Amino acid sequence: MELPFAEAWKIKMVEPIKKSTREQREQWLKEAHYNVFMLESEKIYIDCLTDSGTGAMSDRQWAAMMTGDESYAGARSFYELKAAIKDITGFDYVIPTHQGRAAENVMFSAILTKQGMVVPGNAHFDTTKGHIEFRKCTAIDVTIPEAKNTQLEIPFKGEVSLELLEKVLKENQGNIPCMVLTVTNNTVGGQPVSMKNIRETCELCHKYGVRVNIDSARFVENAYFIKMREEGYADKTIREICKEMFSYADSMTMSAKKDGLVNMGGFIATRHEDLYEACKAFCIPFEGFLTYGGMNGRDMAALAVGLRENTEFEMVETRVKQVEYLAKKLDEYGIPYQRPVGGHAIFVDAQKILTKVPKEEFPAQTLTCELYLEAGVRGCEIGYILADRDPVTRENRFGGLDLLRLCICRRTYTNNHMDVIAAALKNVYDRRDSITHGVKITWEAELMRHFTVQLDRVK
Ligand code: F0G
Repeated sequence: MELPFAEAWKIKMVEPIKKSTREQREQWLKEAHYNVFMLESEKIYIDCLTDSGTGAMSDRQWAAMMTGDESYAGARSFYELKAAIKDITGFDYVIPTHQGRAAENVMFSAILTKQGMVVPGNAHFDTTKGHIEFRKCTAIDVTIPEAKNTQLEIPFKGEVSLELLEKVLKENQGNIPCMVLTVTNNTVGGQPVSMKNIRETCELCHKYGVRVNIDSARFVENAYFIKMREEGYADKTIREICKEMFSYADSMTMSAKKDGLVNMGGFIATRHEDLYEACKAFCIPFEGFLTYGGMNGRDMAALAVGLRENTEFEMVETRVKQVEYLAKKLDEYGIPYQRPVGGHAIFVDAQKILTKVPKEEFPAQTLTCELYLEAGVRGCEIGYILADRDPVTRENRFGGLDLLRLCICRRTYTNNHMDVIAAALKNVYDRRDSITHGVKITWEAELMRHFTVQLDRVK
């Protein structure tokens, strides 16, 4: 008999979690203004809010923490981190930052030098878009249109449309400081980008004299999908694939809280000295001195180990297979989600489930609330609330997808937890037609409103 698949690790430490009653959750959610970001984590049973900084570190990472060098300048831990990044990406210049958006802040401060600049990308993550729009510049989405059809099964659904990209490059010549290529493409469902598309995107940008910055939060998962799905890569190692991915690009911004397997941290890396020099000037005032940026020595030490550990095939395989396990359960129950399942999360198609809730009442946010009420499972809305208002017209942006994202933390929950999540969602799905009203906004921030928005039930 063939042996079944099992995790490439065993558990050394556990953290108790608590269940609650529906009555308690009704009360707590009301107090949180129907925004699950406002819930205390003690009030959550299974937390799928994000896979960012929520994973479990390995014994090797914890051991590395003890060896962290906390010197203000020239810390050994920085050089360990720099060497790991160089080995995996080939980039020579490294600036540590406290997380991904801090890397974006430093880099965009250096390159978005005037208002009105344009930054094309395959569905910029919300902080990326926020940093661009905050500087009165424009983020233009050039993701392939197929990504919006949640039921279409294509292997690399996060790709860049070269046609859309070229149009932007042509129309904005001299006004594009960089293109942002996000792997995997979080916003459209953790969907991967093929090596071919990475290469062609970079070649096209370079033809127009535009540099490419890879938003690399989940670059290892992307490499895994290239290995599994793209012709010619089955026999390559994850490390070889990562190296090739970065070889076409000019720089990366990294949220190390995802594929770096740490709870906090990030960095910028590049092959270009001029970009490094420009970023340095903003790293020091915003983050810290160049050899720690926003990180402790021990955090850099743990990240160096995490990057090497996660670029081993078995580690990333274990991770993606758990997400696939949950997706198979949802298939059994007929629950629609962005297909095929991506690397870090399930993106449930709320528009297809809560068909009686009008878009003005935010179906995905409503579904997020219902799932929490059902079983204490916290997901998050990646939809109309997250999309913010158009900076010019101030209208809600209803043009994209309206999804409930269920993120799976790395090395944290077991497949029994996945079974609970799936059952809870099935229960909501089975009573979907009785859900006819959603939520309305009572207070919102001007930018990145989804973190702090306050809502109330409609009726
Ligand atoms: N880029 C991508 C693709 C991301 O998914 C994130 C964060 C960032 C940049 C910003 O990094 O959080 O370290 O500042 N994504 C988290 C999420 C928050 O839940 O998807 P950060």
